[in-house]
Amino acid sequence: MTRALLPTAVVLVAALGAFPGATPVAAQQAVEPAIDSLLAEMTLEEKLGQLAQYRGRWGDTGPRVEEGGEVQIRASAVGSFLGVYGADYTRELQRVAVEESRLGIPLLFAHDVIHGFRTIFPMPLALAASFDPEGAERASRIAAVEATAHGLHWTFAPMVDLSRDPRWGRIVEGFGEDPYLGSVMAAAHVRGFQGDDLASPQTMLATAKHFVAYGGAEGGRDYNTVDISERTLWETYLPPFRAAVEAGVGAIMPAFNEIAGVPMHAHAHLIRDVLRGEWGFDGVVVSDYTGVMELIPHGVAADSAAAGVLALRAGVDIDMVSGIYVNDVPAAVRDGRLDETAVDEAVRHVLRAKQRLGLFDDPYRYNSVRPEDVTLTDESRAFARDLARRSFVLLKNDGGVLPLSKSVGTVAVIGPLADARRTMLGGWAAAGRAEDAVTPLEGVRAAVSADTRVLHAQGAEFEGEDESGFEAAVVAARQADVAVLFLGEHEEMSSEANNRTSLDLPGTQENLLRAVHETGTPVVVVLFNGRPLALPWLDENVPAILEAWFPGVEGGNAVADILFGDHGPAGKLPVSFPRNVGQVPIHYNHKNTGRPPAEGEKYTSKYIDVPWTPLYPFGHGLAYTEFEYSGLRLDAERIGPADTLGVEVTVTNAGRRASDEVVQLYVRDDVASVTRPVKELKGFERVRLEPGKSRTVSFHLPAESLAYYGLDMERVLEPGRFTVFVGASSEDVLEIGFELTE
Ligand code: BGC
Repeated sequence: MTRALLPTAVVLVAALGAFPGATPVAAQQAVEPAIDSLLAEMTLEEKLGQLAQYRGRWGDTGPRVEEGGEVQIRASAVGSFLGVYGADYTRELQRVAVEESRLGIPLLFAHDVIHGFRTIFPMPLALAASFDPEGAERASRIAAVEATAHGLHWTFAPMVDLSRDPRWGRIVEGFGEDPYLGSVMAAAHVRGFQGDDLASPQTMLATAKHFVAYGGAEGGRDYNTVDISERTLWETYLPPFRAAVEAGVGAIMPAFNEIAGVPMHAHAHLIRDVLRGEWGFDGVVVSDYTGVMELIPHGVAADSAAAGVLALRAGVDIDMVSGIYVNDVPAAVRDGRLDETAVDEAVRHVLRAKQRLGLFDDPYRYNSVRPEDVTLTDESRAFARDLARRSFVLLKNDGGVLPLSKSVGTVAVIGPLADARRTMLGGWAAAGRAEDAVTPLEGVRAAVSADTRVLHAQGAEFEGEDESGFEAAVVAARQADVAVLFLGEHEEMSSEANNRTSLDLPGTQENLLRAVHETGTPVVVVLFNGRPLALPWLDENVPAILEAWFPGVEGGNAVADILFGDHGPAGKLPVSFPRNVGQVPIHYNHKNTGRPPAEGEKYTSKYIDVPWTPLYPFGHGLAYTEFEYSGLRLDAERIGPADTLGVEVTVTNAGRRASDEVVQLYVRDDVASVTRPVKELKGFERVRLEPGKSRTVSFHLPAESLAYYGLDMERVLEPGRFTVFVGASSEDVLEIGFELTE
């Protein structure tokens, strides 16, 4: 039976629609009464239906709702779906929702669109390495344009979890170890996905996840307990979430972990008091996958009903997948265990999200662009290639081995990732397809001159001890003028639940590398991986190492662009690379301790078997040219609490090639009432310099940015001495001091 919209819903649709010309706040105030009257129309079951989110399944013709999904839609027993998309298909489901359910409330379609929808861009960790927030914003913009054309309204991205632990597989999904870089990237992604107007049919709701400290899992084991200080929570893990909220993020997803005994799906203080209260977040809080149900194994809820009550009380609006809100919460409301106002509040957030997306105005607005017009366009591919190049980090280049000549003679392309199509995309590749990806072998073949021979051998395996492929690789290397090895991790060795206790090259890869190295042919290594790896042997023996992360659909071409010098590398590490796994957690913004490491002094904070420093520090990354830093200067020796310090440095391209450089600004609070990090990133700029040219790079450092959480965890701006560092990495810096006065 097809039924027209009920009169009530028609009136509400008008009231909840767009308000041309109104300011966002005024428009929001105008629609709140309409949301209230819609709420007043709803039964308890219909309300809880809005809070239920179910997953799709892969059907014969694409992602579909589970068996019975349409019945649920008609019965108003579901408010949103995850992993269900397709322009025509979602349009039909939407029609069922608005025409055949009692109140005609439109559905939301959500998906993990993490680093592209079909045009897959570099993984978030790689985007962080680009130190290019505009690039990250544009990539998210393109992802939103593609995803919305396929009927999606909502992405579960960006993941803004910092991590100092490369064992944790999800480090690949975040922006590395630094709260400032993480905050800048978080805001850029939110702007990219959401644009200026969420109601545009080409923008989508973003989700900052996973709230909070998920990356602090003990032992790097996904989902594990997190036990951190209040200070670390506020100074390290919360800032990127705050930045996302300030950028207007529409949704927040709590994390699977607990913090100091309280699972995040039951953390009323952080969700209600901090996120909503202090920060004024008025979007929707969506649980993580079965996160509500997991309150039972966490041991804070005896059964499903208790889990639902705890989560709703804590402020978790939508229950992803568990079905608990719909199945178990009605009884809890009826017998008084949960006040219905908690349900109403959650529903209000969901309806508000639907209103912001413009769905009450036109439930089919996201089905208005032809998918084929905007999906995997030449322009998006070209941008993916550019962004991948910008994200690569040249870890080492002794003797200028790179770039290679296109007429090198013979090049041996070796390694298990040389022709690994799917790996180029990395994890969480949404609607990405392996067949869209360009492999390094293809990229190299397309780049070299007609008279250059390309030999290929896979050589090694990711598992086991089989070295039978070595011989072919060695034979190829012997015939070649250069051997380029494509090594690292395949895409399923990082991302969710893919944690490792070792940070070496898995399987027989390092042995292969040693065998090829022994041929005496010059060796270049290109790494693909989703986490910092610990590769001391490579650092000692291989002259050139390029970190390419998971570079996306144009990965192979982008790698060739860099290898053969059509473009120069300029990315910088967003996370420290340790010497071995025993150094973890290792991060540049550590404390000084009472016994800072000192050469030759035993009773200082270090190891007896390896140096205490990382193999490659945060911010490290070379170029095909040399940059010189000079003349670091401040516009004042003293500033007051309301002032802004001007910092300038001269950067000179002293080499022979034009190149980008990421100029980094760090600060240290020399003496404070609590211990402060030895350095904290406070600014960066990616600049381009022609050979022989110099440029003044200026930063503005507001005194306010020197504030921190004092002894009593209140923000304080304490007078005293500070040191400013500017340079090419967290360790390669010039420094100068100044004073903050009363
Ligand atoms: C992940 C989330 C993701 C969700 C939906 C969970 O397992 O932790 O990041 O958004 O699944 O796919």
